Amino acid sequence: MRRAAVIGCGRMGAFTSPAVREYAPACWFPLAHAEAVQAHGDLELAALCDPSAEGLARAQAHYGVARGYADHLSLLKAEELDLVTVATRTIGRAGIIADCFDVGVRALHIEKPLCSSVAELRRIEAMEAGGDLFLTYGTVRRFFPIYRHAVTLASGGDYGALREIRATLGQGALYWTHPHAVDLILMAAGGRRVEAVQARLAGVERAAGAMTIKTDPVIEAATIWFEDGVAGHIGRSPGMDLVLSCQSAELTVLNDGHGLAISDYSGANPYPDRQSVTVGFDPEAPAGTLAPIRELVACLDGDATARRSNAANRRAILTGQHILFAMVQSHLESARPVALDAVDPAIVIEARTGGNNA
Ligand SMILES: NC(=O)c1ccc[n+]([C@@H]2O[C@H](COP(=O)([O-])OP(=O)(O)OC[C@H]3O[C@@H](n4cnc5c(N)ncnc54)[C@H](O)[C@@H]3O)[C@@H](O)[C@H]2O)c1
Repeated sequence: MRRAAVIGCGRMGAFTSPAVREYAPACWFPLAHAEAVQAHGDLELAALCDPSAEGLARAQAHYGVARGYADHLSLLKAEELDLVTVATRTIGRAGIIADCFDVGVRALHIEKPLCSSVAELRRIEAMEAGGDLFLTYGTVRRFFPIYRHAVTLASGGDYGALREIRATLGQGALYWTHPHAVDLILMAAGGRRVEAVQARLAGVERAAGAMTIKTDPVIEAATIWFEDGVAGHIGRSPGMDLVLSCQSAELTVLNDGHGLAISDYSGANPYPDRQSVTVGFDPEAPAGTLAPIRELVACLDGDATARRSNAANRRAILTGQHILFAMVQSHLESARPVALDAVDPAIVIEARTGGNNA
């Protein structure tokens, strides 16, 4: 058995919110990190960590875990761990990732967003460049069979070339909601290179004379332009859909994975033929956070397919974070297209809402 620990025992770490439990489709579960670790047959949930004594005790009792720590340094000092999951809020997360790396942990599942600043992102990139760090991320839809099937169909050529990707996750904030939209767009775009990012945000509160954004701005509209003209759009439309527009059809993963529909245009009829797709994926297969954790364990076991998949997933995690910073840069420059390497290295996003950060 490999030994794992969860850092941060709130909603994502330990206690999935009742609304998600009630409404999300089956493919979202097990979602809480601790639950996913315990669902993996080759992992022992060896320890939990949270500075809230009450939260820690509650999680320890719920999961039957004897060893609990109030801070991650004590955890890392006392426990030999193969895999760590990080479900704290974003500020400070990059430091936790670095501390895990420094003691030799090589498999990390990290909540989104990855980090708070461009400087932190560069440090994480340097760790990842060593090639022996396996990472997965809280944007878990990319692991669900229904999303994978939709992307396979859209990129297979039967419907012509992919032209446009839309992630409609409602009116959402850059850090709280839209790491998910960005990741879905990157997943659908495959390995296409990002050419530029344009964004118009609302609620940007900037610290005087600095590149620090104090708030978590709403994305009013954003476009990610890929090398071959494919465009990924994020707006404020309600719904929880991923829409993949090809030359002759539109494929939509509906309602966070509740269903998949194809609107197919053919012949002289200008109106699409709409069909539900029910084959090619298992809507009930347990995925949630267990799916990325399975990939991490397979990477540790030396599985070549998992390692290839993880290399692509790591690129998407890092690129996705660059895109969030580029959206801020674009907004500050009147929504002009910004290349990912043209982002001000001084950008910090505190993403504060009320008394908390994203
Ligand atoms: N993947 C998703 O769908 C999804 C959904 C909701 C939230 N999130 C993300 O997950 C993260 C956590 O969100 P949440 O809703 O679970 O928050 P939360 O406030 O419920 O939980 C965070 C927990 O981390 C603990 N914590 C804070 N600092 C810590 C530290 N240094 N070491 C250990 N524990 C620490 C807190 O005491 C708290 O228990 C956020 O970044 C959020 O953006 C992801």
